[in-house]
Amino acid sequence: MSVCAYRSEGDIAVISMNSPPVNGLGLPLRQGIAEGLAQAARDPAITAVVLTGTPKAFSGGADIREFNSPLMLATPNLHDIIATLEALQKPVVAAISGVCLGGGLELALGCHYRVALGDAQIALPEVKLGLLPGGGGTQRLPRLVGVQTALEMVVTGEMVPAAKLAGTALFDEMIAGDLLAGALAFARKVAGTRPLPRVRDRALAQPDAAAFFAAARAQVAKKAGPFPAPLKCLECIEAAATRPFDEGMEVERKGFEFLVNGPESRALRHAFFGERAAAKIPDIPDDTPLRPIHSAAVIGAGTMGGGIAMNFANVGIPVRLLEVKQEALDRGLAVIRKNYENQVKKGKLTQEKLDQRMALIQPTLSYADLGQADIVIEAVFEDMDVKKAVFEQLDAVMKRGAILASNTSTLDLDRIALFTKRPQDVVGLHFFSPANVMRLLEVVRGKQTAKDVMATVMQLGRRIRKLPVVAGVCDGFVGNRMIGKYSAEALVLLEEGALPQQVDAAIEKLGFAMGPFRMSDLAGNDVSWYIRKRHYAEHPGMRRALIADRICELGRNGQKTGKGWYSYQPGDRTAHPDPEVEKIILDVSKEAGVTRRAIPDSEIVERLVYALVNEGARIVEEGIALRASDIDMMYLNGYGFPLHLGGPMLYADMQGLDKVAARCREFAKNPLSAPGFWEPAPLLAKLAAEGKTFN
Ligand code: 3HC
Ligand code: NAI
Repeated sequence: MSVCAYRSEGDIAVISMNSPPVNGLGLPLRQGIAEGLAQAARDPAITAVVLTGTPKAFSGGADIREFNSPLMLATPNLHDIIATLEALQKPVVAAISGVCLGGGLELALGCHYRVALGDAQIALPEVKLGLLPGGGGTQRLPRLVGVQTALEMVVTGEMVPAAKLAGTALFDEMIAGDLLAGALAFARKVAGTRPLPRVRDRALAQPDAAAFFAAARAQVAKKAGPFPAPLKCLECIEAAATRPFDEGMEVERKGFEFLVNGPESRALRHAFFGERAAAKIPDIPDDTPLRPIHSAAVIGAGTMGGGIAMNFANVGIPVRLLEVKQEALDRGLAVIRKNYENQVKKGKLTQEKLDQRMALIQPTLSYADLGQADIVIEAVFEDMDVKKAVFEQLDAVMKRGAILASNTSTLDLDRIALFTKRPQDVVGLHFFSPANVMRLLEVVRGKQTAKDVMATVMQLGRRIRKLPVVAGVCDGFVGNRMIGKYSAEALVLLEEGALPQQVDAAIEKLGFAMGPFRMSDLAGNDVSWYIRKRHYAEHPGMRRALIADRICELGRNGQKTGKGWYSYQPGDRTAHPDPEVEKIILDVSKEAGVTRRAIPDSEIVERLVYALVNEGARIVEEGIALRASDIDMMYLNGYGFPLHLGGPMLYADMQGLDKVAARCREFAKNPLSAPGFWEPAPLLAKLAAEGKTFN
């Protein structure tokens, strides 16, 4: 079927865009629209044109997949079509339903008239992709809705229901009921009106423009962070308000060109497509039948279990919460209630909703109460024997077909699955702390996990408003396996010459939410010590992280003990460098015979990020991650990797993999590095040699 259909309804031509999924304005659709307009212009029997989409989408905007490719500019481009619309000697009416976004709205703004359903969603969301509206939207929208509203829409990119804009000149008529019938009637009404109104001809004035834009600029700058797009958007609106139309268009054109070629927009578009790609598992068809999930259960009401239970209650799924002792259950429930109460205090939740959610969380001490749940998630101590006892009990009580999930962060999921007689129903659901807040959900696919279990938990993950990303089974799965390398390198940096505050400051300057040592103090240094001790036992010859071990031997477990890599004042999370820590570091360097040196911040950043990248490459090659962008989505949503850099793998792509591989080879000469640590992963070496990228 054609992506754009033309037909006549009496003397009115109807051009219908129908290019799934969202009428993205790719070249074939643009060609279709241009042909339709030409046909309408040619036919003397046609007096007016209606341009419309589908109930779901008038148009989702430019086809994002075309960006940075010659296709985007291939004629007819969006500007050509808008120019044709404005030059047409017959009125064109945009009939808007569903989403009308970005280039889609710009297309409508090029029409002479616009009619819409009240629930159509209107936005110029380009800023969310690090861009500005490049099809005249910044110049035409303010002429219809005013400077203030247009500025808000362009700088935030948020959708606004058409009904809310009904009083503005954006819409000539709001239609109730049948959109096409309404649009046709409107078109007949205006068919003879001349001159044809063009948005570009409307006057626009902003009183006290200089003061208005100075104040707006200060506000926008505060929120923009490292992203250049919001201020560029503002610049365009300012041009619309203060300069002739064509000059404003030139400001817009230059701004768009600057942004579309910049790294921040590349990162945001990578995140957009990466999130959607993460939903796809190549060997599991989209139409795989799902297991119904109407109820859930969580084992363990500790740090993680409580947050996990909240996720279910938040979307109305009843959840049983099981503990071994009443005190633990009471403590867990009190923490949950406190979390909700804080939301009420902040005005994010009503007391009524709090009560509803608490009522959905049903505490129990008895496994017998769980049997009918559709899914159970275990979040007990990270100890194989404890997990074994729990999964054996679950196997005994859970109904057939129930999904048995573990929140383990490091243990072998395939072993856990074999504690049951139904390993096909076992899957890893690795939440991140705080589990009710963090968006990432690492979905660990065991050797025997059934396909419909995978499909069901991926869908459930989205239902509880997480970003589910698939990982295979290995020590630490994707995220923690990589962070292990990053933390190990941070420790080598200390031994070689840096101090925790320098390492943290260097990586925080790059945009990380927290450096490795502040992060470790927050999570608890005993957690990684516990894992290290297991590694020492499993690999007897391995080099020990002496500095970190000594810190832990002194009970410096982090914020919870008032001291860790830093010291803390009671009730205050500010990290203060501590001479005791510095002495331990200097002592260990001395004992190892290391002549300490000043390490530049740029080298710290490279060594930390490339440690992630090199392990990430191994993970992709082993198939533990399905694709490099999955790793990036995990790091953006679970590990505080800066969004404007797009994740470790895209960061490496943008640096150039040949440079990354060369630096790894340099770092490999460091005698303090573990053997093989810096040897470029085969995939990295191969892509670097071929001049290719991960993404
Ligand atoms: N171009 C190409 N593909 C698009 C697209 C677009 N503008 N918008 C969405 N898609 C694709 C998605 O990639 C996805 O594809 P997949 O099924 O192969 O993964 C599919 O449409 C469905 O998307 P969602 O999963 O996001 O579906 P939803 O129903 O949840 O949301 C939406 C639909 C609200 C349209 C949402 O996709 C969205 O916000 N899209 C981005 C819109 C946008 O940013 N438009 C501006 C583009 S830039 C522009 O127009 C520049 C111009 O000013 C010159
Ligand atoms: P926690 O110690 O805060 O909570 C564990 C809870 O399980 C305790 O309340 C304990 O009473 C309960 N429990 C222990 N044995 C039990 C049993 N047999 N039956 C029922 N309840 C039992 O631990 P936390 O931090 O919540 O960790 C739980 C799991 O989540 C572990 O596997 C951990 O590796 C994983 N995890 C932890 C993260 C974190 O940041 N804390 C992040 C991601 C995963």
